[in-house]
Amino acid sequence: MNILILGSGGREHALAWAVKQNPKCDRLIVAPGNAGIGQLAELAAIDPCDATAVLACVAENAVDFVIVGPEAPLAAGVADALRAAGVLTFGPSAQAAQLEASKAFTKEICDACGAPTAAWARFADLEAALAHVRAQGAPIVVKADGLAAGKGVIVAMTLAEAEAGLREIFGGAFGAAGAEVVIEEFMAGEEASFFILSDGVNVAPIGTAQDHKRVGDGDTGPNTGGMGAYSPAPVLSAAIQEQVLAEIIRPTVAQMARRGMPFQGVLYAGLMIENGRARLVEYNVRFGDPECQVLMMRLGGQALDLLQACAEGRLDQITAQWAEDCALTVVMAARGYPGTYEKGSEIKGLDSLPETSAQMVFHAGTTAQDGRILATGGRVLNVTARAATLAEAQQRAYAMVDAIDWPEGFCRRDIGWRAL
Ligand SMILES: Nc1ncnc2c1ncn2[C@@H]1O[C@H](COP(=O)(O)OP(=O)(O)O)[C@@H](O)[C@H]1O
Ligand SMILES: [Mg+2]
Repeated sequence: MNILILGSGGREHALAWAVKQNPKCDRLIVAPGNAGIGQLAELAAIDPCDATAVLACVAENAVDFVIVGPEAPLAAGVADALRAAGVLTFGPSAQAAQLEASKAFTKEICDACGAPTAAWARFADLEAALAHVRAQGAPIVVKADGLAAGKGVIVAMTLAEAEAGLREIFGGAFGAAGAEVVIEEFMAGEEASFFILSDGVNVAPIGTAQDHKRVGDGDTGPNTGGMGAYSPAPVLSAAIQEQVLAEIIRPTVAQMARRGMPFQGVLYAGLMIENGRARLVEYNVRFGDPECQVLMMRLGGQALDLLQACAEGRLDQITAQWAEDCALTVVMAARGYPGTYEKGSEIKGLDSLPETSAQMVFHAGTTAQDGRILATGGRVLNVTARAATLAEAQQRAYAMVDAIDWPEGFCRRDIGWRAL
């Protein structure tokens, strides 16, 4: 089977690494990929949001299966274009991708199917939104409706913060994504993520994870795209996973099908857990980055069988097989991230690290130049290890970090602290 993966981050490196281990995988192409991905797959220099270019790549290379990594091509309808051309594709239609692309859409689906989530209201007008937050009081949560690269949510502890957030969003800080605002009840509790494949009818859970959004140790400093993750997340007990499947996931999947927009792909449910019960914070319609790295490290080659069964509507015939082990990933970022940082510094020492089924450095923002590996992004490497216990996985990951020679980089030293 010839496989094409769309995307260029650590998530796609982890997907490629897992898929490649499956004997069914013949050719593996990643578009556009990065330096690390280039060590295990062919790279195609095309824009993953350009459906015409993706279709041409599929035809040229006799691709049998396309896996879409990021949300942008999904929201742009690339999965629709591929399926319309008869190409087996993992990832939701643009309509179903509204579960990520519109927060108000998701809230309406939750209400229609009775899924537990924060109380909410939507506004297209600043004055009405201001009146609502004044009537509700703080703490309260203000969200731009559309895709805002993780920057469109204000968890306001005071009324002044909520009002400033509303003025910012309606002032155009997020463009069209902020034309509408969702205002939510503040939920207390501990957050965790649950990943579930859906073929439109059947569902198959494929793991839990927790990430670390703040840049500094002890969850301090500004928010980032994620500084590390681990799987499983002990807070998502088997009982809570059952509750989430019964009250949130299956009703959502049924509701989407009823509306004529069946969801096919991975549902990444952000959950808030309080007093042994979970409520939905949000859905994403693709794998998390860096959560995907720890999920793939635990799944290995079976990931391809699962994603293929999902795309073929056969999830009732397959279950994820778990080793009872733990995976942890540490993000190494360029100094200055998430603010301004330099590009082009050289990373050494990667060759000295053995790559096995239990330890791997996934590349997120790198390029290869004259045999050297250079940093090209904010988040640059995902140093990932798997072991019988989380403590051991953490120890192994940091031993790898310490063997990497990159003075211009940094990482958090406490990934996994909540579970340890
Ligand atoms: N209703 C809520 N109560 C408390 N915290 C929230 C609530 N909604 C969102 N958050 C916090 O804000 C973060 C971002 O919100 P989310 O809806 O996940 O938006 P996005 O990931 O698209 O930026 C969440 O991970 C959570 O920490
Ligand atoms: Mg989120």
